Amino acid sequence: MRILLYTGKGGVGKTSISAATAVRCAQLGYRTVVLSTDPAHSLGDSFDMRIGSEIKELAPNLWGQEIDLLYQIDRYWGRVQRYLNVLFAWQGMDGLVAEEASILPGMEELASLMQITFLADSGDYDVIVIDAAPTGSTLQLLSVPDIARWYLEKIFPFHRKTMQVARPVLTRLSDMPLPEDDFFDSIEELIRFMERTNRLLSDADISSMRVVLNPEKMVIKEGQRAYTYLNLYGYPVDSVVVNRIFPQDLTDSYFDLWKHAQAENMELVREAFYPLPIFEVPLFEQEVTGLPLLQQMADTVFGAELVRGGQGDPTQRYYAGKPQEIFHEDGYYVLSIPLPLVDREQVHLHRSVYDELVVRIGNWKRNISLPTGLARLDIDGARYVDDRLNILFKSQAGDEIASEDLTTDRWKILRSKLSGHRA
Ligand SMILES: Nc1ncnc2c1ncn2[C@@H]1O[C@H](COP(=O)(O)OP(=O)(O)O)[C@@H](O)[C@H]1O
Ligand SMILES: [Mg+2]
Repeated sequence: MRILLYTGKGGVGKTSISAATAVRCAQLGYRTVVLSTDPAHSLGDSFDMRIGSEIKELAPNLWGQEIDLLYQIDRYWGRVQRYLNVLFAWQGMDGLVAEEASILPGMEELASLMQITFLADSGDYDVIVIDAAPTGSTLQLLSVPDIARWYLEKIFPFHRKTMQVARPVLTRLSDMPLPEDDFFDSIEELIRFMERTNRLLSDADISSMRVVLNPEKMVIKEGQRAYTYLNLYGYPVDSVVVNRIFPQDLTDSYFDLWKHAQAENMELVREAFYPLPIFEVPLFEQEVTGLPLLQQMADTVFGAELVRGGQGDPTQRYYAGKPQEIFHEDGYYVLSIPLPLVDREQVHLHRSVYDELVVRIGNWKRNISLPTGLARLDIDGARYVDDRLNILFKSQAGDEIASEDLTTDRWKILRSKLSGHRA
């Protein structure tokens, strides 16, 4: 089974690309379901069919579903939410406000991502295509269920055991509503489900995440940040789809500036997402809706070849390595990136205002959006290890790093005083 997840900023074409991918997979004979978890559903518009919260057959081998957020939340979060509701109301919160407040940030999205696990468990599908808009915080919650556990324990500072002992006393002291036993079951179940969803999504043999972009600077920046966080949390990203590229045969001079800017921005995309393969999708003459146009879109993205396991099979893993890795070693945080075959003597590291790190080696340039944790640290040097460049961040201000470590023969070290370069 494969899970293909498309993510990106609103309006870039996630739903269209997801739908086109699903159409292609179904054509190849895979039992395919396409699921939209973005609260701004448009899967139905894309297929030009009515798709609801029930799984619906759209074509041979093809099913679709638009997640019903309220239902999902109730399913995974219902008991917890109902207790919070009662608790907030008891504290004097207005009923409607209490209801709103009892949905914790990120919960909606999280609950909708859990549907993936449900579909995977059903065994009914070979391919699950997800039209998602996961934000950094959701991925973080998902990637470290312990964080969720920690939050929940902060919010509910009583445990099942404490509760069993303290309930009689607490009930006498106050009329504060107390959680029942099934409340704790509910939280446990929620966290277990998160763990399973996370395991599915971070397994590179099962899942591939794909970033959808348009060749526009702001969109690229946002895509880069998403990419950095996906890498940071260990989700396998295997390609980038750049959608809405002006066709070259568009000759109207009115579009010259646009075409020029797009060509420049494509270069930015290559710098930001190296070494991932980049799929280019032209701007169509019209909106991409209905099966025939989705099929046409699939042809432009994946090529016309209809062979399982071949070039045009979207279920393949387009990139199998680790495009960006962050780990802790010898008192450093290490950002590790793959290197092309370039002259390895001249590495230049430079930091830009956007918490970006620009790596330049000869003519090769790479643009990395730094996660917050690294952005505030100083860079102390870089090492070549196998085919990768490892950039060293001082893990804590005040940490002593022996300078001999930086000049051993084994490593080619490039010390750079980057802190001064920050604008
Ligand atoms: N390559 C394209 N050419 C023309 N129209 C497109 C293209 N990609 C997407 N669209 C249209 O743009 C709109 C937004 O696309 P959509 O896939 O819904 O974006 P998202 O899901 O990222 O918000 C839709 O009307 C869709 O038909
Ligand atoms: Mg959409």
